[in-house]
Amino acid sequence: MANTILVGAQWGDEGKGKIIDFLTENADIVVRSQGGNNAGHTVIVGGTKYVLHLIPSGILRPDKMCVIGNGVVLDPVAVAGEIKGLREKGIAVTASNLLISDAAHLVLPYHRKLDEAKEIARGDAKIGTTKRGIGPAYGDKIARNGLRVADLLLPEVFASKLAQRVRENNAVLATFGIEPVDFESTLAACTEAAELLRPFIGNTVVYLHNAVKQRREILFEGAQGTFLDIDHGTYPYVTSSNTTAGGACTGSGVPPHHIDRVLGVVKAYTTRVGEGPFPTENQQISDMLHGMGREFGATTGRARRCGWFDAVAVRYAGMINGIDDLAVTNLDGLDSLDSIKICTGYKLHGETLEIPPLDHAELAACEPICIELPGWKTPTDAIRDWKDLPENARNYLLKIAEVCGAQLRIVSVGPNREQTMVLD
Ligand code: GDP
Ligand code: IMO
Ligand code: MG
Repeated sequence: MANTILVGAQWGDEGKGKIIDFLTENADIVVRSQGGNNAGHTVIVGGTKYVLHLIPSGILRPDKMCVIGNGVVLDPVAVAGEIKGLREKGIAVTASNLLISDAAHLVLPYHRKLDEAKEIARGDAKIGTTKRGIGPAYGDKIARNGLRVADLLLPEVFASKLAQRVRENNAVLATFGIEPVDFESTLAACTEAAELLRPFIGNTVVYLHNAVKQRREILFEGAQGTFLDIDHGTYPYVTSSNTTAGGACTGSGVPPHHIDRVLGVVKAYTTRVGEGPFPTENQQISDMLHGMGREFGATTGRARRCGWFDAVAVRYAGMINGIDDLAVTNLDGLDSLDSIKICTGYKLHGETLEIPPLDHAELAACEPICIELPGWKTPTDAIRDWKDLPENARNYLLKIAEVCGAQLRIVSVGPNREQTMVLD
């Protein structure tokens, strides 16, 4: 497998974790390069469910290396907890299979409190964040106020920087009427986490540079999705990182000319969690999927909003990411439908649009223009070969690929590793 960037081409939760785990078999290294523990990537192996938040989904395959790159925002206590949780489930996490960038920025308790305070202050205009402190942590990074993983390794420097930042942020929290962060207990928790993390911390740029030279194959695990990208998403209803393909390079220090392929992951329908415009949202599809026990968030447990496949959005995602190949997950979610819609255009103020408008209110006002395809009304979850899929299911998948202008490569019909088919 060539060096591949895997991105979510919708609003997150496309099934990236499952596809990463599947592809890791043929990769050497899996790299997270943006986002934080707002991500929730579900992988089911041998009947056991794992939800990865900060650790790359490649960790479930022994002998594969996982890297957390400089572009990630890392909550030290959360990642230490995740490592312990994986070890309790019998997964080895050692310095031989996990490397954490010393340049990644830290998410600290005042970020989480500010995230929550700002959401409350936004009232009806809230973003619906995961309240993991992601926005405030990236805000500090950009404003050049951040603490980094490397700081954790210098206890005295860390304590003094933390004291100053806690003082400054407590003053801000007071303006929201929020309880201050306790410096002593924060320092104690970070110090304990730092001791667990110390063996994992290093220069990931040099590691990846050498890996590229040795022709080891790298899989970049995108978090969130294209329309949550801070630049290209449905701003301000977005996350605070570059979730699109370019983010994999800046967030890892691997230069663009070493990237061979971009794989876009989409669900066979669309979901979104949190607030913001969603032109193809459909209550019936939501009710059907929730009734099947599906589409509840892996990080916050919130019910995801659901709707028809939006080819306008995914086509645009193709432009931004340079998607070569497409993986379509959750085909089985549509198994019971008589007919299925695909949105191929938007109607706005009497005009037909083929590209999503910039303004979130305009996007929310767009009416989807849909084509309708016949359903297959057959369970697909036990099918393992493309040729064995019902003809209507194949036609639906090929139509999705055609209207998005990408090559269909992978189809997933269930959450398990083996419920995956690869097309030649
Ligand atoms: P991610 O954030 O992109 O990794 O996706 P999540 O893990 O948050 O959400 C995807 C959900 O769909 C998880 O519950 C997966 O186990 C599940 N999943 C992935 N692919 C399939 C599939 O083809 N069929 C079914 N039924 N579930 C799937
Ligand atoms: P994965 O990697 C789906 C959404 C939140 C909210 C917005 C901002 O599992 O696909 P944030 O906490 O990042 O400031 O929240 O982004 N969001 C996600 N939605 N999947 C995710 O990650 C998400 N990470 C953030 O719901 O709307
Ligand atoms: Mg998720």
